[in-house]
Amino acid sequence: MNQRAEIPLPITVKLPTEPPPPPLPEKERARLQERIKRLLKERNAVLVAHYYVDEDLQRLAEETGGCVSDSLEMARFGHDHPARTLIVAGVRFMGETAKILNPEKRVLMPTLQAECSLDLGCPANLFIPFCDAHPDRQVVVYSNTSAEVKARADWVVTSSIAVKLIEHLKSRGEKILWAPDKHLGKYIQSVTGADMLLWNATCVVHDEFKGELLAALKRQHPDAAIIAHPESPTAVLEQAEVIGSTSQLIAAAKRLPNKQLIVATDRGIFYKMQQAAPGKILMAAPTAGEGATCESCAHCPWMAMNSLTNLAEVLETGANEVHVEEAVRVKALRATQRMLDFAASIREKNHGD
Ligand code: 13P
Ligand code: SF4
Repeated sequence: MNQRAEIPLPITVKLPTEPPPPPLPEKERARLQERIKRLLKERNAVLVAHYYVDEDLQRLAEETGGCVSDSLEMARFGHDHPARTLIVAGVRFMGETAKILNPEKRVLMPTLQAECSLDLGCPANLFIPFCDAHPDRQVVVYSNTSAEVKARADWVVTSSIAVKLIEHLKSRGEKILWAPDKHLGKYIQSVTGADMLLWNATCVVHDEFKGELLAALKRQHPDAAIIAHPESPTAVLEQAEVIGSTSQLIAAAKRLPNKQLIVATDRGIFYKMQQAAPGKILMAAPTAGEGATCESCAHCPWMAMNSLTNLAEVLETGANEVHVEEAVRVKALRATQRMLDFAASIREKNHGD
């Protein structure tokens, strides 16, 4: 067999070694929040935040006309918003996606060190030859990838529309090469029955949720509904009543009749989930944290690098601008724009139904 055609072994990903920024005294938090609000106006900037970043940043995005959302909506919002500067509080692929879609805007991030284990687990120098060895397959990559990987893809997709896109491609008789998240790929494969060749990377947060511990927690709370992000392992997804993107999980928390919910995703989501479903009891799905063997312990170590302090600094200085080499950007735009267009077509269809 052609060496390059083999699925590479999982790549060992290094987690950040620095501890997350320590909590600030109340007075300092208030001072920074006021400063950020003023600077956002002065700089004609809008804050686009993911649900996993610090609660203070999520609140600021809400209060200043920005957005707090899943990765698809972050991309759409940044694209449609008239501000000249986008401040993306999240991880690098989110900033890069914003730049790919908006070359004329300035994209800044509170930190450029915020990675993602899926992105790191799918380096372009291994991925591109792998794709070349499978020319009969449509290359579909999760948004959690580098611009170089997106540039090699036929489609970019996020978890909120992944099943629908693969169903669509399957209906056209396409075979798929899917990267990088193997759990999400396996889940989509099981739902759609599509012919999918899966890359071998995982999310350090979701991969740590444990099926057996989850079953034990459910036995203690038989009336609770389990809701899970599809980056979680199969043993977790098999027990979930709802599987979806971060926004879809928040909608489910609101919609489900259960008073108690067991949530298998990053605990940063609890801020917006509790807001959407007041009065509900939210429980974190178990990792092996009690045995001190979890690494991320249900909170993304890279998302945690975003803070009020580095956000204020970036607004003040204009540092941490995201750049994507133009030739790569143009190629990556094709598959990324396709994602937005496909999402818009789903929205239109749903409104028409
Ligand atoms: P969502 O698109 O569901 O927000 O997921 C992004 C992500 O990084 C989850 O770990
Ligand atoms: Fe990547 Fe997982 Fe962090 Fe999301 S939670 S950014 S998938 S490492």
